[in-house]
Amino acid sequence: MYMLIKRGLKNLLGLFMAITLIVVFYKLNKYPIQLKSTQRESGTKYILYWTSFWKFKDYKIGFGAEPFETCEYKNCFATNNRTLKPVEEFEAIIFHASIYNPKTAGKPDRRNERQVYIYSNIEAPAYLSPNYAQFNSFYNWTMTYRFDSDIVHRHDKFTEEESNYELPSMKVVHNKTKLIAWFASHCETSSRRERLVAEIQKFLPVDIYGSCGPLKCEKLKGDTKLSSPECYDMIEENYKFYLSFENSICKDYSTEKLYNALKKNIVPIVYGAGDYSLSAPPHSVINVNDFVSVKELTDYLKYLDKNANVYLTYFEWKKKYKIVKSSHACDICKKLNQPLVKSVYHDLRSWSRGKSDEICKNGQNFPMIVKNIL
Ligand SMILES: *[C@@H]1O[C@H](CO)[C@@H](O)[C@H](O)[C@H]1NC(C)=O
Ligand SMILES: *[C@@H]1O[C@H](CO)[C@@H](O)[C@H](O)[C@H]1NC(C)=O
Ligand SMILES: *[C@@H]1O[C@H](CO)[C@@H](O)[C@H](O)[C@H]1NC(C)=O
Repeated sequence: MYMLIKRGLKNLLGLFMAITLIVVFYKLNKYPIQLKSTQRESGTKYILYWTSFWKFKDYKIGFGAEPFETCEYKNCFATNNRTLKPVEEFEAIIFHASIYNPKTAGKPDRRNERQVYIYSNIEAPAYLSPNYAQFNSFYNWTMTYRFDSDIVHRHDKFTEEESNYELPSMKVVHNKTKLIAWFASHCETSSRRERLVAEIQKFLPVDIYGSCGPLKCEKLKGDTKLSSPECYDMIEENYKFYLSFENSICKDYSTEKLYNALKKNIVPIVYGAGDYSLSAPPHSVINVNDFVSVKELTDYLKYLDKNANVYLTYFEWKKKYKIVKSSHACDICKKLNQPLVKSVYHDLRSWSRGKSDEICKNGQNFPMIVKNIL
């Protein structure tokens, strides 16, 4: 008798549990999306700057929640205070690879599977020689100028945005009485751009400003590298072309030399790695890679100089695109709000320089136009 009651109770309990499970499953299936999104929104994501970005303690992003206020995801908080929380509880830790030395800056002493370490760098690998091996399997995400980084961090970028931009008038074009300007502070570079400039000068005058030439233009206050806005205004008024020649020829590497010119009514002549369709708007630059010889390049520049209407086609993009600041801070916050996918850079050197050093070009694999004059 007692056994019978016990079995009956057991069956009842089983039935009750089955019904509960069915109800729970039904609810979960009915509202799975809402449940997930409330989980994602909840909680602040803490970002720790383990190093500064050059001299900028706030990583040129800012501290606290403020840098994220205008982002799609606003629930991030940035700090350089390593003791604000236990170090393994920061959702992300950023290391500026150009200056990070674990011997002096230390390494976090505890690590959590769910947090990400970010390798951050906007310099070309030619000018960066960390001891890569010590960082194998250390970083989870990359944040560099390369478009295949987890987060893209470039000097500037372009976005599609209609505007009522008007092309420069003929008067403005004809007022540009000089042809080519070049600003440089590194005179001998791995890209050998100085050779290219010297060769161009055999066909057309190039006005060289900065430490590699005779001309001077005001520097930006407190900066020894960047030119002042007045300087760019002067260039825009007087010149048709601006040499945006990079100091190293590496995949996706283009710098403020490109974007500062694009922001003005002046056409950048670019020398960098390969195709510029990801770095610059359509028909906005003249790429030296598209020419087999310096003669062919300078003939084309002479043709544009004589045909203002064709020259002006290089500004048409400004009606549909805009040069804007990099959105890497917002992109970090967004990515921290997305489902976490396990990711580890096991071989940082291969990623950075390529398995057979193909990321940066040198002598033998420079574009034809440069190879021919070396
Ligand atoms: C860092 O955070 C801790 C914990 O909130 C606090 O006690 C400390 O004063 C902070 N340090 C600085 C330099 O703000
Ligand atoms: C022409 O250039 C000079 C400087 O060389 C400048 O002062 C002047 O405003 C320019 N005129 C036009 C119409 O842009
Ligand atoms: C980050 O990298 C570490 C070390 O390789 C690894 O243990 C961890 O699972 C990674 N975390 C994520 C979220 O990818």
